[in-house]
Amino acid sequence: MATMKKLNNFISFILLLLFPVAMAELHRLEHPVNIDGSISLLVVGDWGRRGTFNQSQVAQQMGIIGEKLNIDFVVSTGDNFYDDGLTGVDDPAFEESFTNVYTAQSLQKNWYNVLGNHDYRGDALAQLSPILKQKDNRWICMRSYIVDTDVAEFFFVDTTPFQDMYFTTPKDHTYDWRNVMPRKDYLSQVLKDLDSALRESSAKWKIVVGHHTIKSAGHHGSSEELGVHLLPILQANNVDFYLNGHDHCLEHISSSDSPLQFLTSGGGSKSWRGDMNWWNPKEMKFYYDGQGFMAMQITQTQVWIQFFDIFGNILHKWSASKDLVSNI
Ligand SMILES: *[C@@H]1O[C@H](CO)[C@@H](O)[C@H](O)[C@H]1NC(C)=O
Repeated sequence: MATMKKLNNFISFILLLLFPVAMAELHRLEHPVNIDGSISLLVVGDWGRRGTFNQSQVAQQMGIIGEKLNIDFVVSTGDNFYDDGLTGVDDPAFEESFTNVYTAQSLQKNWYNVLGNHDYRGDALAQLSPILKQKDNRWICMRSYIVDTDVAEFFFVDTTPFQDMYFTTPKDHTYDWRNVMPRKDYLSQVLKDLDSALRESSAKWKIVVGHHTIKSAGHHGSSEELGVHLLPILQANNVDFYLNGHDHCLEHISSSDSPLQFLTSGGGSKSWRGDMNWWNPKEMKFYYDGQGFMAMQITQTQVWIQFFDIFGNILHKWSASKDLVSNI
């Protein structure tokens, strides 16, 4: 077993020397688990509005719940800065919408971010820059990457470049596609890297995070592109959860054809859109049109999820379990 792995690593290494681009791999970060082998985290999305639209209320409640659950980190599902991302690394919106809003002690942990479509309307490279980490050492943002926690592996995916509309519709907005063009190559590389990372993963729980929805009854609804390109990879690799934002609501949809759960946490600031669409009640476990966030607690055998509103009320609870031996 160990020799097989060594051999595989050796072959990968040789291939990497021969085909440096084709063999690109997702960047991998390690996040330690607690002494008892568990982790807990909060998930928030679509937030950066200088505290307005209840962003500060959400932040305050995240601080309280984060303390109670003794969270290890925060996951952000993107649309970090409205309306047009950051203008550059010195944009004061970084402090005004992030550092000065999420001030609670329990939130002084790593924030693992992805980019949303609004982030691409500004200087996308600024959000990926290590300079932001110097300004606030919680900030971690890459396009697609892995956070490995032993008990669960998180796969962050850059979903904005998958959406045809940002490339085709008349230009109301401009997008920062530096390092994303040529688009076709970029997308196939993302999918390939994700697929191989998932295939190699031996994590008990596999969690994929992106900005855009795969399944949602909200304003934007389900992304057709992700349904075609991303969903089959998640299903083929027994992914347990897909976390996203984009629709400014809190939502839990289960699937009738796989154990995969679709969790939307996009209630970080502006919401109350009032245009939920019909969804099969057998799959729709929960929908809330207002502000809030989600919490996850994960052990080898169990995952608990909870959705909270700005008053700290639990709006929805759900849990899944696996036995200790099986890996699927
Ligand atoms: C803030 O939250 C309260 C309680 O959910 C809600 O009534 C109010 O409309 C929200 N304000 C905004 C601007 O969304």
